[in-house]
Amino acid sequence: MDGNGRWAQRRQLARTAGHTEGEENLARLVRVARTRNVGWLTVFGFSTENWVRPRTEVRHILGLHRKLFGRVSELNELNVRVQWVGRPFDSPDARTPKHVQRAIHKAIADTSANTGMVLTVAFDYGSRAEIVHAARAAAAAGVVDADALWEHMYLPELPPVDVVVRTSGEHRVSNFMLWQSAGAEVFFTERPWPDFDGDELDAAVALVRG
Ligand code: FPP
Repeated sequence: MDGNGRWAQRRQLARTAGHTEGEENLARLVRVARTRNVGWLTVFGFSTENWVRPRTEVRHILGLHRKLFGRVSELNELNVRVQWVGRPFDSPDARTPKHVQRAIHKAIADTSANTGMVLTVAFDYGSRAEIVHAARAAAAAGVVDADALWEHMYLPELPPVDVVVRTSGEHRVSNFMLWQSAGAEVFFTERPWPDFDGDELDAAVALVRG
């Protein structure tokens, strides 16, 4: 969800205001995605590399994750199941605070019966770390092939990615779902994440639905 900071800077606001608007836009977009029959929506909320950002910004983003995972009644109204993908909380490098862990666990449990769409939030996520994790687990189980790697990804239920969306004029590949997005379409837009709307979603989805 690139471009929150730039969206704010253009309005002479603090970067944190851009993240706040980014969270609001995600809530809006989930609603739109339901009307378009999107089955799986996975968003990059916080990467393993994002911990080096200024402390106040990190704390703000953590608070927004708690807010998002707290939107349980909205998600239930929309029939959306929430999932989380990222470095396991008990791994040596994991840094997710307990209050965010609790919000994640609660949202997953409280929306687990919903069947309309799966919203997966990647938090403390890095694709290379995920692939290393899967390779180690597969090797420990004695079989290293593509099927085994799929089974040992952080969240094996995630299907292959159909479309990767790159907002805010970013044309590079990021450390996001590298294994799962082999062969995916890529949708590029100049719009920063807070301005990514239903029309943009339609254009992205049209790449696969025609
Ligand atoms: C990129 O903007 C966004 C992030 C680092 C992640 C934070 C995302 C949100 C708070 C949106 C809401 C989502 C959730 C899951 C709560 P940037 O800071 O890289 O902006 P820039 O590209 O303009 O510098």
